[in-house]
Amino acid sequence: MKIIALNGSPHGVKSTTKVLVDAVLAGAADEGAEVDYIDVCQLLINYCQGCGTCNRTGVCPQKDDFWALFAKMQEADGIVLASPVYIDLVTAQLKTVIDRMAHPIHCMLLSGTYGCSVSTAGASMANEVVEYMNNFLSLTGVRIVGGIGVTMSEGPRVFEEKITEARHLGVRIVAAIAEQQVFPEQEAAFAKQAAKMRELVDMNRDLWIAEYKYWQQKG
Ligand SMILES: Cc1cc2nc3c(=O)[nH]c(=O)nc-3n(C[C@H](O)[C@H](O)[C@H](O)COP(=O)(O)O)c2cc1C
Repeated sequence: MKIIALNGSPHGVKSTTKVLVDAVLAGAADEGAEVDYIDVCQLLINYCQGCGTCNRTGVCPQKDDFWALFAKMQEADGIVLASPVYIDLVTAQLKTVIDRMAHPIHCMLLSGTYGCSVSTAGASMANEVVEYMNNFLSLTGVRIVGGIGVTMSEGPRVFEEKITEARHLGVRIVAAIAEQQVFPEQEAAFAKQAAKMRELVDMNRDLWIAEYKYWQQKG
């Protein structure tokens, strides 16, 4: 079982958010998962140009690290998404990755994968950013097992508690994958989202040829 984590903090090994990610991965590794940490800021990920080529062909024409990263996400059984709060949202580096996901979202290409998110903030919005990242994962079809947001101004004791929670989250994602747990509310949301995407792709079928073919093949 493979769990990968993507952290959008530019702080490298000094990232506070990484402390949470490491705890999730440690919890998962203790349960026997193979884990991989990806520092998004070390990758070359260009901005989405909004050209629509991915919708049309299924491939982005930009030569950068995006598709290798996405291949890792597709191969993984579990994905941990992480970012510090930057002006009430994820960092620009992680948002740039997310913006490249129009095609994976239209086709819900990560269906069957499990995920969770973690975030740290100086003062506020950590939980909202966790919700944002988890919502993004859901749009690609990922089943969400939880999330942890930490406000650093709450002090080191709270942070320690959250680190412990993060370890448990790592254990939980492994259990969810091992048992292929299904969450009825999320399944209902996926069905709705798939219907919405099929309708959108159908409306654009002359342009979004690859996506139309994809949904056709899905029946
Ligand atoms: C450019 C910038 C924007 C930030 N915006 C916010 C914010 O809107 N709200 C907040 O509570 N903290 C904000 N912070 C603080 C970070 O979220 C906080 O220090 C976080 O723990 C850093 O995590 P990292 O070390 O993993 O990057 C900001 C920090 C920077 C550098």
